Amino acid sequence: MVYLLRRAWHILVLRLLPLTSFQKHDLLYVIPDPWALDNDKEHYRIKQTSRLIAEKIGICGTLLEVGCGEGLQSEALRGNCHRLIGVDISGRAVARAVRRVESADFYAADVFSKAPPTTPPADLVVACEMIYLLEDVGAAVDRLERLGRMCLITYMDEAAAKLNPVLRTRSLMGRETITHADLTWHVVWWRSPHAGVKRAEVDEPMLAVV
Ligand SMILES: C[S@@+](CC[C@H](N)C(=O)[O-])C[C@H]1O[C@@H](n2cnc3c(N)ncnc32)[C@H](O)[C@@H]1O
Repeated sequence: MVYLLRRAWHILVLRLLPLTSFQKHDLLYVIPDPWALDNDKEHYRIKQTSRLIAEKIGICGTLLEVGCGEGLQSEALRGNCHRLIGVDISGRAVARAVRRVESADFYAADVFSKAPPTTPPADLVVACEMIYLLEDVGAAVDRLERLGRMCLITYMDEAAAKLNPVLRTRSLMGRETITHADLTWHVVWWRSPHAGVKRAEVDEPMLAVV
């Protein structure tokens, strides 16, 4: 029943209402946990993602979490870095993330917009279960590479057909899968081609705070 109500809410907000992308994603968060992330299987995915970061990449200086939502994954990612910056297009989600993880900085922003920069590239930019929500995943991946020296994304198996063609054009440093019961997620990470470029030489702005 809860599943059906949540599904109807997604269809109404994301497909039927004539709103901007920002308005849609913010309105979704009128209900708690609109993406159904606060459950055992997603907790497992979150925990395994942090384990992989620790094992394969190590502790980062600055970690930028794109699409941080209500901060569920931010709690785990806080242990992967010295400084965590979370960003989500929804102001409502960010307000909850701020309450959940006090030791991180959060911003309400569309990281794919072109507003003035506010941060230098992070050591690691992480985008979990969000890139496939965007229309142009190629542009989104390009953008991540401007935001961090290393990039790591996760995506559920159902999104593989959308993401794999773009990822095939990157020299990945690693790829793993996380499985829980009948669910599979892919985790991939790679070095940004702009990793060695100083901030002033990067033509695209870094992060838009709204
Ligand atoms: C499915 S949730 C994933 C949350 C979290 N990353 C996780 O894996 O548990 C996707 C999140 O991406 C956010 N989002 C969608 N488009 C965005 C954009 N252009 N910029 C920043 N965040 C965005 C949504 O508001 C939502 O909170």
